[in-house]
Amino acid sequence: MALEKDFFRQVMGQFTTGVTVATTCGNGRATGLTVSAFTSVSLDPPLVLICVDLRSNVLAHFRESGIFAVNILTNRQEALSRCFATMSEERYMHFCNADYHVAATGAPILDGVLAFVDARIIAEYPGGDHAIFLGQVEAMGTDGEVVFATEAGKRNSALTAYLLSKDYQRPSLAAYYDEDFE
Ligand SMILES: Cc1cc2nc3c(=O)[nH]c(=O)nc-3n(C[C@H](O)[C@H](O)[C@H](O)COP(=O)(O)O)c2cc1C
Repeated sequence: MALEKDFFRQVMGQFTTGVTVATTCGNGRATGLTVSAFTSVSLDPPLVLICVDLRSNVLAHFRESGIFAVNILTNRQEALSRCFATMSEERYMHFCNADYHVAATGAPILDGVLAFVDARIIAEYPGGDHAIFLGQVEAMGTDGEVVFATEAGKRNSALTAYLLSKDYQRPSLAAYYDEDFE
């Protein structure tokens, strides 16, 4: 069986995938893990899925919050992909010291990512030793452009609250989202 597992890994390793960090909130704290099991599922409605190991310490946070963001990293963010794959205090307690903001659902979106999708979990399916979370996209973005699934989502966006809050200090982030809020 161990041999089969290794060979399965070897076979699947021939399929090149990107690396993402899937994030959510647990007890009001940002949390996440490095995930390669991410794919788009449906265009209308826009659905994506991620697979999370049943043994993961952060699995419960995804279930409890009912939301997740998938952060597609740039090649300059390799350190983050490593950090979010380790069992460390830096990850569990300090969110890998990563700066982030939020869009529609409140799931953390890492600053400087290539692209992100922000989704609400609409179903969880069994996937062997992983849980498959199906998420409906409420906001998505690439550098310089953010689109919200609904006007209400945009109006009620936690991002709007964030931009108006006293914590907001990064003008560059305002510029990033300005078009969507004019
Ligand atoms: C390149 C890479 C891809 C990974 N992809 C996944 C994945 O799709 N799903 C998953 O549950 N864990 C994946 N992992 C493992 C987790 O990132 C992380 O190591 C593991 O969840 C740590 O355990 P913890 O969440 O209990 O702290 C991946 C790790 C690496 C390095």
